[in-house]
Amino acid sequence: MKNKITRKEFIDCGSKLMVAGIMAPFISEAGELFQAGKKIKIGLIGCGSVSGMYLPHLSKSPFVELVSVCDIIPERAKKRAKEFNVPNQYAHIDQLLAGAPFDLMINLTNMQEHGRLNKLALIARKHVWSEKPMANTYHEGKELFEFAKQQGVRIWGAPAVVNSPQFAFMSKAIQEGKLGKVSAAHAHYGHLGPTWSAFFYERGGGSMPDLGVYNIATLTGLLGPAKSVMAMTSIVTPERTVDDKGKIKVEAEDNAMVLMEHANGIISHVQCGFNYFDPYGHEGEGQEKPTISIWGTKGNMNLIGYDWAPFGVDMSTSENESTVRYVKDAGTYVWEQGASVIAESLVNGAEPLIAAEHALHVLEIIEAAHESQATGKRIALKSVFRYPVV
Ligand SMILES: NC(=O)c1ccc[n+]([C@@H]2O[C@H](COP(=O)([O-])OP(=O)(O)OC[C@H]3O[C@@H](n4cnc5c(N)ncnc54)[C@H](O)[C@@H]3O)[C@@H](O)[C@H]2O)c1
Repeated sequence: MKNKITRKEFIDCGSKLMVAGIMAPFISEAGELFQAGKKIKIGLIGCGSVSGMYLPHLSKSPFVELVSVCDIIPERAKKRAKEFNVPNQYAHIDQLLAGAPFDLMINLTNMQEHGRLNKLALIARKHVWSEKPMANTYHEGKELFEFAKQQGVRIWGAPAVVNSPQFAFMSKAIQEGKLGKVSAAHAHYGHLGPTWSAFFYERGGGSMPDLGVYNIATLTGLLGPAKSVMAMTSIVTPERTVDDKGKIKVEAEDNAMVLMEHANGIISHVQCGFNYFDPYGHEGEGQEKPTISIWGTKGNMNLIGYDWAPFGVDMSTSENESTVRYVKDAGTYVWEQGASVIAESLVNGAEPLIAAEHALHVLEIIEAAHESQATGKRIALKSVFRYPVV
């Protein structure tokens, strides 16, 4: 492992290179050193289903150099390396971290592995982009966040929903008072559950960290951090058959209702589950109905489609009562863009909209929902994040 250098040494070294004309670095507001024109070297771990969405996006990014892929099932790493021309492949994180040098680890493994693997990457002084959740408990996530700072690197967690132009439109409408005084909101996301891997149903899995996480990020992003949570969760389908393990016992909730208290009396509700018939399927193609609704004294707003793949925002206000559909085009936004956006921000020094503190807040809400279910009580939260996001 490399010896740790201080931020001052890092910046001094950059300045010497700049004087020597070897590179043209600049220092961001946060004091980090960036190098214009640089590509971020990527080591991606977890070559399953979602890597098939990430890698095409990453391979088109001008800010990315794909260096290594890794999976404990070596054929999967081999397949992705071949498909996307990645020069190195490994079967274990220790080999990945000790192998070809890279800057940013992208963690697309089983949810239960995220905290452990993210920590190993931070110890090796790699930046981390993690699929959700960033860690397995809020406490673990907060420790990783603080540890990353000590190591002079950064960690971020999915989802990327705050990047959509529909999210920006809704956030601005609320901030500009177009809805009047906002009081209530609802969001839902569900399907019949993943069929390929058991971890979604094992302890540490469940519909909240897999699906509800998007809606919780969107509603807290739009309405502000939650102060307290009450929830009910259940297991509706106690046994399932999945590709990797056959018949399994479901240990994690597959049905959840989460109530959140925000500032100024606003109450919102998220429902998610793995037992929802969805005529639009897992991809949400052609979804015409709203999945997020927000009510205020002067207007209502509905996000059409899922928040991770939105198709527009319907809004009616006291000034214009007939519903108008806005932002029908998501532009360059796609849900799988998170790691590419982070790579770009590491090159150009601009702080991304996606914030680790927001991902941690969402994690605290999910944990509080479990506690509320277990105790029948309302659970107070302590975490906050930069708000408004847009
Ligand atoms: N599949 C999707 O559509 C989707 C969408 C958004 C987010 N996600 C998230 O992405 C993550 C992965 O989901 P998936 O559907 O790709 O699962 P998957 O089971 O298809 O893939 C996970 C991969 O990680 C590998 N892996 C597990 N532990 C490992 C370890 N210690 N070291 C190296 N490799 C390891 C597995 O062998 C497997 O190939 C989850 O957090 C999930 O919530 C999935």
